[in-house]
Amino acid sequence: MNARIRKAVFPVAGLGTRFLPATKTVPKEMLTIVDRPVIQYVVDEAREAGIEHLIFVTGRNKGVIEDYFDVQTELQATLENRGKTTELNLLAADLPEAGTTSFTRQQLPLGLGHAVWCARELVGREPFALLLPDMIMQAPKGCLAQMMEMYEETGGNIISVEQCEPERASSYGIVGVGETAGSGFRITEMVEKPAPGTAPSNHFISGRYILQPEIMDILARQETGAGGEIQLTDAMIALLADQAFYGMPFDGQTYDCGSKSGFLAANVAYALARADIAPAFQEELKKIIAARR
Ligand code: G1P
Repeated sequence: MNARIRKAVFPVAGLGTRFLPATKTVPKEMLTIVDRPVIQYVVDEAREAGIEHLIFVTGRNKGVIEDYFDVQTELQATLENRGKTTELNLLAADLPEAGTTSFTRQQLPLGLGHAVWCARELVGREPFALLLPDMIMQAPKGCLAQMMEMYEETGGNIISVEQCEPERASSYGIVGVGETAGSGFRITEMVEKPAPGTAPSNHFISGRYILQPEIMDILARQETGAGGEIQLTDAMIALLADQAFYGMPFDGQTYDCGSKSGFLAANVAYALARADIAPAFQEELKKIIAARR
């Protein structure tokens, strides 16, 4: 039987320069999609997949993320006094149980691979999930939950993949497609940010991973790759020599909230998926679009 995936790592140390000036004081992971911070959606996806322990790799000026996952005693008391049961229930439902979160800091911005390595002591010697909070995945069954199902069948390392236009390939990690396996395929090769025209396929790494602990041993070597950063993809390429990697095409919609247009699209999509907001919001949208014609 494959070892159970109990822990998830969330790298949240990024500076968020694309969202300045907001990110001068607000971490990009705390920007809201409708009325929930970006990070909440990703944590929801992990919890839905059965994850029991949430590990956040933070950085300077990210303390508010830790506060967000704590009880706000004063706020709770005020809501109780005012009889705001709906709001209280909402907060209670989102609050991770005491002792199920850990926070550590990536002291220097040395790359995604380095951020993951910073979590090594908290992860220990067991397979783990990794979720990049820039990517918000919308589907009836979450992306990580879909990957967990595949993992039961295949074991090994699993990466969520999607297809992109060939000219977008150099913005991502790209995988080579091998034989069918589980609900996806065996990965034959990987390359981080390939030079234009050199990508082995148009399947890009879309931000969800199930990884075996040996990845930490490779990351410990701290070798730099594309962009002068310690790349997770490079460590996965090294591990591919010893272990199987599988690509799982995600059945759902992904929003790249690292870009302004993706973040705005996510806001529209999630608002339209909310019964309490959709009718009024749809009317507003129609008016805006009509006025621009
Ligand atoms: C990272 C990964 C890359 C992946 C991407 C998905 O890149 O290194 O392989 O395709 O996330 O968003 P970054 O966005 O940090 O440049």
